[in-house]
Amino acid sequence: MTSDPQRPDGKSPDLDPDSHATTTGMTGHGFYDANSQTQWNAISAVLPTLDIAAATLPLPADGVITLADYGCSEGRNSVTAMAQALKTLLPRTSLPVQTVHSDIPTNDFSTLFLNLRPNAKSVFGSDRVFSSAVGGSMYDQLRPDESVHLAMTFNAIAFLSKRPLKSLPGYIFPNGPSAARNNGYVAEADKEAFADQAKRDLETFLKVRARELVPGGKLLVQVFGATDDARTCDGIYDLLNDAVLAFVESGEISRETYERYYQPVYMRRLKELTEPVSDDRFGSAGLFDLEESRDYEVAVPFVEQYQKDGDLERYARDYVNFFRAFTEAVLRNALPETPDRQTLVERVYAHSQEILKTNPDLYPFRYLAVEMLLTRKG
Ligand SMILES: C[S@@+](CC[C@H](N)C(=O)[O-])C[C@H]1O[C@@H](n2cnc3c(N)ncnc32)[C@H](O)[C@@H]1O
Repeated sequence: MTSDPQRPDGKSPDLDPDSHATTTGMTGHGFYDANSQTQWNAISAVLPTLDIAAATLPLPADGVITLADYGCSEGRNSVTAMAQALKTLLPRTSLPVQTVHSDIPTNDFSTLFLNLRPNAKSVFGSDRVFSSAVGGSMYDQLRPDESVHLAMTFNAIAFLSKRPLKSLPGYIFPNGPSAARNNGYVAEADKEAFADQAKRDLETFLKVRARELVPGGKLLVQVFGATDDARTCDGIYDLLNDAVLAFVESGEISRETYERYYQPVYMRRLKELTEPVSDDRFGSAGLFDLEESRDYEVAVPFVEQYQKDGDLERYARDYVNFFRAFTEAVLRNALPETPDRQTLVERVYAHSQEILKTNPDLYPFRYLAVEMLLTRKG
């Protein structure tokens, strides 16, 4: 596996505040697509809501109907979700439909385009559907005013637009370690800074989507998160933290690098998702009607498989590849730019597998998510 694309200027996005992104994207060349069945399960659980959105959005008398997905990555899940929306939408209209798949400019768009036109034909199997891709942060306006009818985002809006803190000395993830593993610390004030950044990001996201959407247009927001019961960061980040710390202990990663490194992602609870829709402290309040919202949990395929067959080797590989796909770019950018940086990254993930195989019970993993369906007022 090779690394994902870098910015041409060589800058890491977290050093460039204008990028409004803190990652260069998922691990590319099909790796994210191959390791995101769990994310698909989480999307699958909101397909009935997507159907409602596609069945009830007001249709124009002429022109083009536009569906947009923000944070589409390599596209396998984006295409499948979009196909579901089209199944409901196409029989409602004879107008042409445009699907827009959007992600940050360093995303692996080549794989996305291959997913959109396998065999040189639209993957959606209709000559009325036209697809395109847009490179840009979802925290910026990416489409003209009132040009989108149905907008959606899946498993993406937890990625922060900027790093609110320069360092996180005691752990590699803003929400802190799991209560069970407790292998580090995040100060309460630091947790607050991330919670606040997540709310401000959602406020921005809602404001720019409100500009793009037609009045009555629908916005489905879904993302992994937390409940009273569990958090989607538990297990995976405990393991990555332990693996990175092993290299700090061996002297191959400096303590300073460890303290500066964290994954700039925040696990929201449902209330934190809905607050910017209706709370007057946010500039996004009042732009949308909240049609429904909920939190939920989905099965994790590699966990279920392990429970069935006890194949620890496969479990460790699938578990680590799952989180490698969305953590690798940030980890690599956090390490000093040396000739063997990529080798070090490979070794961190290989070591994660070894730790997991030695102690599989220490890192239980569950996938919780939050979602809401909104209608653009006006
Ligand atoms: C975990 S993937 C989800 C991909 C797909 N939606 C799915 O559910 O399988 C998160 C995606 O969000 C994208 N992302 C992160 N920050 C972003 C930003 N500021 N603007 C747009 N996309 C962003 C990443 O590049 C990545 O492709």
